[in-house]
Amino acid sequence: VTTEILRRASGPLHGRVRVPGDKSISHRSLVFAGLAEGTSTVTGLSGGDDVIRTSAALRALGVVFEGERISGGRSALREATAVIDLGNSGTGMRLFTGIASSLGFYSVLAGDASLHTRPMGRVTGPLRQMGARIDGRADAAFAPLSIRGGGLSGIDYTPPVASAQVKAAILLAGLAADGETTIHEAIPTRRHTEEFLERCGADVSITEWADGYAVTVRRSVLAPFTLDVPGDPSQAAFFCVAATIIPGSDLVIENVYVGPGRAGFLEVLAEMGADITIAETGPATADLHVRAASLKATEISGARVADTIDEIPILCVAAALAEGTTRVADAAELRVKESDRIETVAAALRALGSEVVTFPDGLEVTGGYVLGDARIDAVMDHRVAMAASIAALAGTGDVEITGFEAVESSWPSFRSDLEGLQ
Ligand code: S3P
Repeated sequence: VTTEILRRASGPLHGRVRVPGDKSISHRSLVFAGLAEGTSTVTGLSGGDDVIRTSAALRALGVVFEGERISGGRSALREATAVIDLGNSGTGMRLFTGIASSLGFYSVLAGDASLHTRPMGRVTGPLRQMGARIDGRADAAFAPLSIRGGGLSGIDYTPPVASAQVKAAILLAGLAADGETTIHEAIPTRRHTEEFLERCGADVSITEWADGYAVTVRRSVLAPFTLDVPGDPSQAAFFCVAATIIPGSDLVIENVYVGPGRAGFLEVLAEMGADITIAETGPATADLHVRAASLKATEISGARVADTIDEIPILCVAAALAEGTTRVADAAELRVKESDRIETVAAALRALGSEVVTFPDGLEVTGGYVLGDARIDAVMDHRVAMAASIAALAGTGDVEITGFEAVESSWPSFRSDLEGLQ
């Protein structure tokens, strides 16, 4: 376990920077390239451990990697001879549970201690309904999971929780199932899986109503593709908040994905009074120009929780430096992320000197307290480590973060990149 000490920023943050390639898109780029018949070319992938584990899992199943070129195809995949270790990655575990369910052989999926506490029934339940034979702890509610795949039939399914990972797992299985597989969403989630289904020429149809959304896939052979993965908005959010709270800052974050389900944090920050200009650079990408601003409290609840779920830790840091009390509600999902983020974010902010109250489905953060010396445990959670680091920049003391190495899962160079802005 490594302990890092972070301190007040030495001056305003400035420059033009890039953040790592989007993690959700990176996982799906690899998975779709692995399933597509032929050779795909993918650049700009996240270099975090989560995404490296996804590459390794595909390699274990017979996908061939040569630099940026990835050659796969369902017909080329074969049984892995060892346990597939997905590390800390919930996305990796859920996507591969869907994929393994669709492959006519045996797979064992495992990860680290944190991943083994995360709920898997949300994917194993519907995949069993499709015909996959899945076993695991507590009747496949938790990994490690062992899966005998193949022989699937489509289902018509409405996930009880808004989850893009569940949607992806079932749609990936649906690509090799008899009949149609339909996912209904009352609360829309990020659409990366749908974007890849379309990019790879899958037999997919999307229906949208005023109050609902459904996506249907049928058995498909996927075509290879070429993609440069855009910057990760969830990582850009750390720098957006940093530049907002450090007086005099003026920072441009280049080429960030701002497509459906991922740009909600920009709306929240705008409401709080942040000064962020969004200059489109493509159909779903933008440069974000952030200048320092003073913030006021807001509320994050209802349908927009799904659009900001990964950014709530850093938005809570913004709240700790804003005037008034910010309320986060309808966000019980935070309790089953890499850590129980309602409690771990609250503990970090309290250690820094903020006033925080927690509820079963959220928290209230009262801003305006001076953030001082603190000792914070990142509890195997990359976003807690990074959020605490940004809070330290705006504070007055030494912030000791134990377990800082959690940043490896999504942003190994986070500390040096952050220092490069000063
Ligand atoms: C992700 C979906 C979200 C998000 C996670 C990445 C994805 O999780 O929190 O970091 O790539 O599909 P849920 O699907 O569990 O909400």
